[in-house]
Parts: sequence; C-alpha cells; structure tokens
Amino acid sequence: MNTIYQPADEQSIRTAAALLKEGQLVAFPTETVYGLGADALNEEAVKYIFAAKGRPADNPLIVHVADKSQLDDLCEVTPEAEKLMDAFWPGPLTILLKKKAAVPDVTTAGLPSVAVRCPDHPVALALLKESQVPVAAPSANRSGRPSPTTAEHVYEDMNGRIAMILKGGDCRVGVESTVLDMTGSVPCILRPGAVTREMVAKVLGSCTVADSVMRPLKEGEAAPSPGMKHRHYAPKASMTVYVGDHEKVIAEICRRYDAAENAVILAMENDIPAFGARHTLSIGASPEETAHLLFKRLRETDEMGVSLVLAQGWEGEEMVLAVMNRMARAAAFDVVKL
Ligand code: TXA
Ligand code: MG
Repeated sequence: MNTIYQPADEQSIRTAAALLKEGQLVAFPTETVYGLGADALNEEAVKYIFAAKGRPADNPLIVHVADKSQLDDLCEVTPEAEKLMDAFWPGPLTILLKKKAAVPDVTTAGLPSVAVRCPDHPVALALLKESQVPVAAPSANRSGRPSPTTAEHVYEDMNGRIAMILKGGDCRVGVESTVLDMTGSVPCILRPGAVTREMVAKVLGSCTVADSVMRPLKEGEAAPSPGMKHRHYAPKASMTVYVGDHEKVIAEICRRYDAAENAVILAMENDIPAFGARHTLSIGASPEETAHLLFKRLRETDEMGVSLVLAQGWEGEEMVLAVMNRMARAAAFDVVKL
C-alpha cells in the first residue's frame, strides 16, 4: 500500500477525513502521541487497526470525538463524567463509560465499557469535525514499540501499512492520555497521564489509582485494563531505572556503565556534567520534559544498538506517576531505589 505522507493543512485534512469515511486508516497528531485512526463504528475498518499494529484483539481502543455532543449514541454519560469533560476536554483524559449498542465489539474488545476522549490538538479536532465520525485510535506504533511522538516515528512503523499519515510536528505531552474508569463506585485511574489523580479529585472529591499501575500483574491476576497485561514501550536493550539518593544514583549508574560493553545513560539535563565523558541522552529537567522526551529517547537507544540503558527516574506525585509508569514498563519493572 502506498502511504500518503503529508503536512496537515486544510486540503490534506479533507483527504484524510474522506479516507476515514471510506473505512481506511489515517494516522494523526494529538497532544499526547500520534493516533492511528479508523471509523469506530465500522467493524472492518477497526479490524485493520489491529492488523496494521499487530495488536492483540483483546486490547480495546479509545474512541475520539470532536466534543461531548458526539457521545449520545456511543455511551451513557453520567453527571460525574460530564463534570470531567467540562473541566478537562479537549485534553489528555480518557473516560471509561458504559457502552451503547452502536459501538461494535471489535472496538471495545467485547467489553461492556467504551473509552472516550476529546484530544486537544487542532489537527485532530479538525479531522474529527470534518469526518463527522467517532474515530477509534490507538497509539500509531507497531505493537510493543514506544508510542510515536513525531510524524517520523509513525512513518518508521506504519509506512506501507496504512492509507495516510498527517504530519503535525512533535506531540506536546509525549505520554498517552490518563485512562479513568468511571464505571465503578469510585473513579479509578487505570493508566496515569497528564490529567493527574489530584486534578480529578479536585473536580469529583475523590479518585484512586489502580495499584497495578506501578507493578507487574501477578500470575493469574485479571488486568483492570487489558493494555496493562501486554508488553509495552520496550527498548531492545535491557534497561534499569534508578531513583532515590541523588549522589548514590549517579555513582551507581557510572559504575554499571563502566562495567558494561555498550551502555547509554538517560540523564536529567542538570546532571549530564556529572556523568563526564560517558554517553548520555537528556531526559530534560522536569517530569513534564521527561514525559515529552522519553519515547523519542527509547527509539534512539534502539537505533544506536546499545545493549544497556541506565536511566535516572523521578520521585513525587502528579506527572511523576505518568512518567514512572512508562519508565518502569520500559525497564520491565527493573526500578532500583538507592
Ligand atoms: O493519548 C492516548 O490515549 C492515545 C492517543 C492516540 O489518543 N491513544 C492511546 O491508545 O494511547 P492505546 O490504544 O495505545 O491505549 C489505550 C489504553 C489501553 O491500555 C487499553 O487497554 C485501554 O486504554 N482501554 C481502552 N478501552 C478500554 C476499556 N473499555 N476498558 C479498559 N481499558 C480500556
Ligand atoms: Mg499504545
């Protein structure tokens, strides 16, 4: 298949919208990561998403809408969910609600809930408005690779496999949206993102975080969100993340680097001088900057062909949870506290 690869302008967005309506796949930028979109109500089109990504069929998709008025046929919007939409949409918050019959089972992997989100990106919103269809879109990476935060990443993974890629620059946030389950008695974060537990609790009074967010699932344990049980964000090299005492972390990373054949350090910007002549890649100077850079850096470590990635991690709340969730998964939960 010949993939159209074009800057997102009025003309190319019209082309993309027409392709979506025909049941084709179009990748587009959002504020979090690039998405791989199909008409969420077209069963055949949604099946192509799973094929193009190599995604297991039991992992449900997020349905993207231009605004909350598009949800009427898709799900049962509770008053609490509506408060969240008013507070955070468009934005990086995905809400799980009870699904209605119009949403095909392939889209939700047979679950009774559907994940809905309104992205905060002018290209994504223009595409959703122009196409007039709800758009099912997972991250536009091949399954198991880091989510794409630039159009070039999407091209690497999807060229020849989908109808079109809309180029729209770097994604602002860099990690995927918060997934919040609103089908139970207490709002529960299944995947942390830039809309934090603290922000949701301010609007609703309470919000919990699924405890499987920061640890591997136990044998036989059911995943609250199917995405949690699949391998994710993994670089080809083995990876360890270090947190805790600042001096000890730097000393231990240097020691392991020096003992390894071919390692690279994911270093906080201000600590790069402390690593001397060792090979470092910057992960910025704040959790927000690390979120923005992390997936790009993981792809770079693949290209460099290193065998070991040693990363400095963050401690704290809010955005730290989103960053450390991705780092821990990339490192297969090899997170060392010093
Ligand atoms: O920021 C994002 O959310 C990006 C952009 C493109 O919008 N999309 C994204 O989609 O990250 P994806 O498919 O890579 O991740 C969706 C996550 C998965 O972990 C999936 O298991 C979970 O959401 N999910 C979707 N529907 C669900 C449902 N009905 N119940 C539980 N988890 C669900
Ligand atoms: Mg994904």
